[in-house]
Amino acid sequence: MPSAPTESALVVRPNGPLKGSVPISGAKNSVLKLMAAALLAPGTHTVHNVPDITDVAVMSQLLDHMGVVVRREGSTLTLIVGEELIAEAPYELVAKMRASIAVLGPLLARCGTASVAMPGGDDFGPRPIDMHLRGLELLGAEFTSSRGIIEGRCDGLLGANIVLEFPSVGATENLLMAAVRAKGETTIDNAAREPEIVDLAAFLSQMGAQVTGAGSSTISVEGTERLSPAEFTVMPDRIEAATFLAATGVAGGEVTLTGARPDHLDLLCQKFGDMGIKTSPDPDGLWVFMNERLHSVDVSTLPYPGIATDFKPLIVAMLTVGDDVGIVTENLFTGRFRYIDELIRMGADIRTEGHHAVVRGVDRLSGAPVRAHDIRAGAALVVAALGAEGETTIVGAEHLDRGYERFVDKLVALGADIERVSV
Ligand code: EPU
Repeated sequence: MPSAPTESALVVRPNGPLKGSVPISGAKNSVLKLMAAALLAPGTHTVHNVPDITDVAVMSQLLDHMGVVVRREGSTLTLIVGEELIAEAPYELVAKMRASIAVLGPLLARCGTASVAMPGGDDFGPRPIDMHLRGLELLGAEFTSSRGIIEGRCDGLLGANIVLEFPSVGATENLLMAAVRAKGETTIDNAAREPEIVDLAAFLSQMGAQVTGAGSSTISVEGTERLSPAEFTVMPDRIEAATFLAATGVAGGEVTLTGARPDHLDLLCQKFGDMGIKTSPDPDGLWVFMNERLHSVDVSTLPYPGIATDFKPLIVAMLTVGDDVGIVTENLFTGRFRYIDELIRMGADIRTEGHHAVVRGVDRLSGAPVRAHDIRAGAALVVAALGAEGETTIVGAEHLDRGYERFVDKLVALGADIERVSV
């Protein structure tokens, strides 16, 4: 009889302040889109600084399904994209990773057809893709959907002026990747401004695309008929950097985030400064120091350059041991509060009202068995556990593997007492 799939857990015990330096890996939310963008040009692409995480493995499987050969050597990925592609993203893979939707724009641009399973909702609440589809329709694509599959087709894409209802990261990326192969000029207004968009535009430019304005709210693209394969180095992961910042905030200590980009973390460092954490750009990345109790602050999530929704679980975890009351407001996703029940199991005093969480700091959390329901929730529970009294066991460690490379090893190297066990 086949054995049931095993879950794994992280066991965390408090072990005093963190000390040392930690390398920040390549950004998950950039590399997944760069891999999708490679579909736009046949030939051999080389991407450096690729984190060894399961989401990259899933994207590799998806590209493999389409006929792309993906090889990894150390942190370098080689993607060999053929002249012919199978323009299909099946449900089994899309269900594992919503970012699979990023292949829709490139497939339409390259093949004139795309069959992509609809990503469902998740713990964040409903996650529609209406803005992706609407923008692609403006570029000339047509869509039908049945049995959970979206079928798109176009007879060549044509540049258009697109105004997004909201600066969606995924929609901006899909439209940008489609527009670089559309005929004529496209403008994307109210575009997302995240650093990952800038990375994607730089990769596309390396391929020969003409993109201006990435990183601002208006992106202009002059379509190009044929793009060439490119070589590119992925930006550092700002969410991983924020996670180690938060960990140092709770455990205390002195840590250098090697390779981090302080300019991607400006507002977060300002907010963390209000909480008592000292940070300073360093020739190696970002220096972090903490030796007092965290101060409570109010935080609202917003699209970049605001405080990212991905930082929110970390901030809530920090506020649980703050010196007063902090109110955290979520403006991007309707859900994403499930980890709060787990923090409450550890003794946190949190009340949620609509999209607000009111967090009253307690002196110390107490370790408990808890469950991680998604990547960032898992990271937040680890952060909370670093400062808790006694042992915390976090089931669902696999979620962390989706986005954090060697997370346990990196924390152990900083002096944390954390190990992974099968359950
Ligand atoms: N939205 C729509 N319609 C659309 C697209 C988005 O209503 O067609 C809404 C969403 O429901 C949400 C808001 O717009 O309320 C923002 O969503 P966005 O499209 O910006 O998010 P995403 O592209 O699906 C990426 C990251 C997320 C990150 C968000 C926000 C990747 C793979 N994912 O998601 O990262 O939280 O941007 O910054 O890039 C993570 O790494 O853990 C993660 C979830």
